[in-house]
Amino acid sequence: MATFIVLLGPPGVGKGTQARILAEHLKLAHISSGDLFRENLKGQTELGRLAQTYMNKGELVPDDVTIAMIRERLTRPDCKAGAILDGFPRTTAQADALEKMLKEFGGKVDKVPYVTAPEKVLVERLSGRWTCRAQGHVYHDKNNPPKQAMVCDIDGSELYQRDDDKSETVVRRIQVYLEQTAPLIAYYRSRGTLVEIDGTQNIEKVTKAFMSALEK
Ligand code: AP5
Repeated sequence: MATFIVLLGPPGVGKGTQARILAEHLKLAHISSGDLFRENLKGQTELGRLAQTYMNKGELVPDDVTIAMIRERLTRPDCKAGAILDGFPRTTAQADALEKMLKEFGGKVDKVPYVTAPEKVLVERLSGRWTCRAQGHVYHDKNNPPKQAMVCDIDGSELYQRDDDKSETVVRRIQVYLEQTAPLIAYYRSRGTLVEIDGTQNIEKVTKAFMSALEK
């Protein structure tokens, strides 16, 4: 049976960093809704142009288009064994839709690691983040610097700062998380799938905490 893991937590807590490591380790697909929107933006698709208007303001992209995008992604062959969902669901309507979709595909949400860190840490991580243009690998100028400044260690592409990592947008993203996404903590806790992870530790320690939580 396929395994589906939903990573829950505020912007900048380290979901993308851990999702990449875990997907490789567990041989599961990594589905990042933010990366999918950014790919559409780069390809200048209609979806990309629509998403940009919300992303630049730190608001959520409407549920219907987001759900349709994830549904399509889940039907690709690399999701046969399951996936790590990073950034989706972000609203109760998205969580209900995911439950229905996975039921259709013969699966369910198996575990929901919920990663936490205080707001001060989130702001510090987002303001120091550098992202690679080619594949979205992430670095941090202090916590996780690339070997060569402005160059991705993995694919050699240029590193850039995301538009939505500007301080005023970061504040709004955290607010939107608290209003619209935080209710999912209770949603998944009531289903018995939530496991809390302390996201303030260094990257290696957080990965270890994930592995032991997922083994349980
Ligand atoms: P998205 O791209 O999903 O952004 P996010 O959820 O805000 O998450 P981030 O990518 O900012 O942070 P992260 O937790 O992945 O942290 P990271 O690993 O990079 O969404 C962007 C936008 O798209 C949304 O605002 C919305 O508009 C739209 N969108 C996306 N999904 C949607 C949905 N489902 N519905 C509607 N709209 C949606 O780490 C951050 C930094 O910290 C990095 O520099 C990293 O190197 C560093 N770091 C990571 N871990 C550690 C550690 N343990 N110690 C020290 N530093 C660390």
